[in-house]
Amino acid sequence: MPKKRILSGMRPTGKLHIGHYVGALENWVKLQDEFENFHLIADYHVLTTDLNTDNVYQNSIEMLIDWLASGLDPVKSPMFRQSQIKEHTELALIFGMLITVNRLERNPTLKDMIRDLKIDNVIYGHLGYPVLQTADILLYKGNYVPVGEDQVPHIEISREIARRFNNQYRITFPEPEPLLTKFARLRGLDGNAKMSKSLNNTILLSDEPETVKVKMKKAVTDPNKQKKGDPGNPDICLVFSFHKKFNTGEVPEIENGCRSGELGCFDCKMKCAAKISNFLAPIIEKRKYYEKNLDEVRDILFDGETRGRKVAVQTISEVRENMKIG
Ligand code: TRP
Repeated sequence: MPKKRILSGMRPTGKLHIGHYVGALENWVKLQDEFENFHLIADYHVLTTDLNTDNVYQNSIEMLIDWLASGLDPVKSPMFRQSQIKEHTELALIFGMLITVNRLERNPTLKDMIRDLKIDNVIYGHLGYPVLQTADILLYKGNYVPVGEDQVPHIEISREIARRFNNQYRITFPEPEPLLTKFARLRGLDGNAKMSKSLNNTILLSDEPETVKVKMKKAVTDPNKQKKGDPGNPDICLVFSFHKKFNTGEVPEIENGCRSGELGCFDCKMKCAAKISNFLAPIIEKRKYYEKNLDEVRDILFDGETRGRKVAVQTISEVRENMKIG
């Protein structure tokens, strides 16, 4: 039995943060052996939020370095930019014919995006976002797509497009399924439900211990716990949620210390910062290696793009054949 395929992707918007790791990367790394993996740098999708492309290349390299530093293995899993494999745009064009405008307008992820980013003028590219994403997935005949919850509506659209194509022409594509991570996404340092660069509430995978400490000092806690001695409620505390992820061993004593008041927020935060830095240490070390060896990073990308393109070209020729357009 050949291995099932995973297609995963992220938009390159700069250095990654621990939320990316917990919400996606950790899962990708774990799945590397069980599945055949393809990792996409969605650099054309970035245009939906920023038409200025000055930093797209640099951001793509930064993201690739974060992926490698987090443990993605370039030998097992090709990593490539969407923009360098033209078949993405070709398949997106064909898929654009297989879904109605009405269906795309009902996409809840689009509605969230319009609200969060206060977008006044919806462009064709916003509406077509999941169509391009479908091309990303189906070009590699991805069976599974490990993503966050917010992307599930997009995968549903991908399934509909796959079905539509298969019915109209010939069975060509699998109906991809989302693979959700077990751990809920990390909240931001300001308590926001989402850790996000645009909200400026992140801890980066590349943050040195000093930076982590400074950032943690500002993290929100239970507002009723004003000083050491006051009893706190860990269930609503952001810092406690980080302990649960990065400091599993000490969770019971942190919980007791917080509830009794014995443990003050400052000490609790510094414990947490130390654990996060322990967790980040090997990532930072690998990151430094790749930063010093950028030629190697570019070779990895070139190799990934060569391997990705091979699969993409094969799929498109099958698509054309099945559509009888030669
Ligand atoms: N939309 C995804 C996100 O914002 C990024 C993405 C683009 C993607 N193409 C993809 C994710 C294909 C999975 C598969 O996170």
